Amino acid sequence: MQDYKDVLAEILIEAEALQARVRELGAQISADYVNEDLLLICILRGGVPFMVDLSRSITTPHMMDFMAVSSYGAGKRESAGSARVTLDLQTDIRGRNVVLVEDIVDSGHTIASVLQMLETRQPKTLKVCALLDKPERREAHVPVDYLGFTIPNKFVFGYGLDLDEYYRNLTFVGVVDLEKYKPSS
Ligand code: IMP
Ligand code: MG
Repeated sequence: MQDYKDVLAEILIEAEALQARVRELGAQISADYVNEDLLLICILRGGVPFMVDLSRSITTPHMMDFMAVSSYGAGKRESAGSARVTLDLQTDIRGRNVVLVEDIVDSGHTIASVLQMLETRQPKTLKVCALLDKPERREAHVPVDYLGFTIPNKFVFGYGLDLDEYYRNLTFVGVVDLEKYKPSS
């Protein structure tokens, strides 16, 4: 894989701005769930860095769980259609306050189908916390209760978001220069 510097068009959100916004979201969630039970559900794999940082800024005692979904008909750098659960929760969410933590809401199909599936398990409340939102790409309506940043319709990477599974570890969110990026296969 190329060095990230060779495929980076521009830094869209600096590490400091991400950390500051995540702390604000953590404070907001802490305030909303005072004296309430709380379960954070991270959607693998993109939600991991966000979930870890967010969790550390939430003062409400809470549990964490993880699930993975794959979208049907997804192209290499796209997602489409409905999602299939590839790794399910270990936790029974019935009667619990759940906050779903996701890296980005793009077409909205992933979150829409996860929400639909989780609703059938009868949580007490079910909210969505997304780091990024690309509203121009929206096809399915999804309520985003806690949002980090609204971004333009550009392919981004870093802080959980991948470019063909690489670069999730970067501390900032950058825009990919698709002319410079050479996919290995
Ligand atoms: P949706 O179902 O179209 O909302 O897709 C959301 C998923 O697509 C996210 O969880 C990401 O895995 C992926 N995705 C969408 N946009 C980007 C991007 O700009 N960079 C990296 N992954 C993206
Ligand atoms: Mg993802």
